[in-house]
Amino acid sequence: MAETLTFNSDRDIVDPADVPKRRLSTGTEIPAIGLGTFGSDKYGPQEIAAAVVGAAEVGYRHFDCASVYGNEDFIGPALSKIVEMGISREELWITSKVWNDKHGPGQVIESAKQSLRDLKLEYLDLYLVHWPFPNSHGKGVDVHSRDPHATSYIHEAYMRTWEQMEQLYNEGLVKHIGTSNMTLPKITRVVRDARIKPHANELELHPHFQQPELFSYCVDNNIVPIGYSPIGSPSRPERDRTPDDTVDIEDPVIVQIAERLDVHPAVVCVKWAVQRGQIPIPFSVKRPQYVSILKTIVSEPLTDTEMAAIAGIDKNNRLIKGHVFLWKENQTWHDLWDLNGDITPA
Ligand SMILES: NC(=O)c1ccc[n+]([C@@H]2O[C@H](COP(=O)([O-])OP(=O)(O)OC[C@H]3O[C@@H](n4cnc5c(N)ncnc54)[C@H](OP(=O)(O)O)[C@@H]3O)[C@@H](O)[C@H]2O)c1
Repeated sequence: MAETLTFNSDRDIVDPADVPKRRLSTGTEIPAIGLGTFGSDKYGPQEIAAAVVGAAEVGYRHFDCASVYGNEDFIGPALSKIVEMGISREELWITSKVWNDKHGPGQVIESAKQSLRDLKLEYLDLYLVHWPFPNSHGKGVDVHSRDPHATSYIHEAYMRTWEQMEQLYNEGLVKHIGTSNMTLPKITRVVRDARIKPHANELELHPHFQQPELFSYCVDNNIVPIGYSPIGSPSRPERDRTPDDTVDIEDPVIVQIAERLDVHPAVVCVKWAVQRGQIPIPFSVKRPQYVSILKTIVSEPLTDTEMAAIAGIDKNNRLIKGHVFLWKENQTWHDLWDLNGDITPA
């Protein structure tokens, strides 16, 4: 059974100094847990902005934003409020991402500047290329929707997009740059050809989808892995579910550890992620949920036996399949993820 927490009491607050950090290749430290801000169809921008303030009150300092989440103009005032509360900008870690329809010449720079205006910031701590394809789609469309101009991954085009990321870094508008939704064949080419190598890579990571090879590649190459959907995205919309999907928070290994710790299984997923070495960015607008996560992160570590047991429940169960980014008819979502070990041809 999940623990009961008192609202707004000092008991809810975790000292940010106690929250683990990871060191990036620049030498800068990043909090080893952040709060996600993608409300999907379920939560509106006001609710999410309120959660950002609430999470800062209880000790979160890292927020994962993106222009496509459609709420940066609400999160901006929330961040200003956090600074007014006495938390300095330097204590915060704010990530944003350029969306797929802004990969063209000048557009990455313009999109970053728009995010800065919306978020009311002078700089971003991390800016990511959200997806490696310039393929876009309307909000809320089903998995059969396709961009008529969609293309496969074209490395030369991606590197032109990346040059704009490097420019943002050189101009100091962003302190770090990174990739997201990459595969091993794609990221190795980017690392080979980039003047400024990615400092971080955001990828789907949860107990049933551990991506061990890509995870190890990132760690070995000093690219900090940031794990999205760390709980297995239990509230994702129906259109993003397939019959084969498994449920991390119902896994007996996770449930048993949750019972020992007297927390919700969601909290175990996030604790495992921090302890494994990725930076989870769980989403929640509910104070008892995000408090419970942070408090458990700073409590006794999981045992070696528990860590080994969770390592053993990987089911290679990708949840965010990305169907809408496919570029021609009769493909399956697997084509987006280079399962044959090389970049899927056009
Ligand atoms: N780079 C990318 O392409 C990408 C893709 C996807 C996501 N992301 C980022 O990753 C973040 C998180 O991913 P996500 O929202 O897909 O999934 P998630 O964090 O795995 O799951 C979030 C859901 O888990 C439940 N939950 C959270 N804390 C809980 C707790 N303590 N106890 C019980 N249940 C709890 C909540 O459900 P209820 O609301 O129903 O209570 C919440 O909506 C996003 O917000 C976004 O910032 C990035």
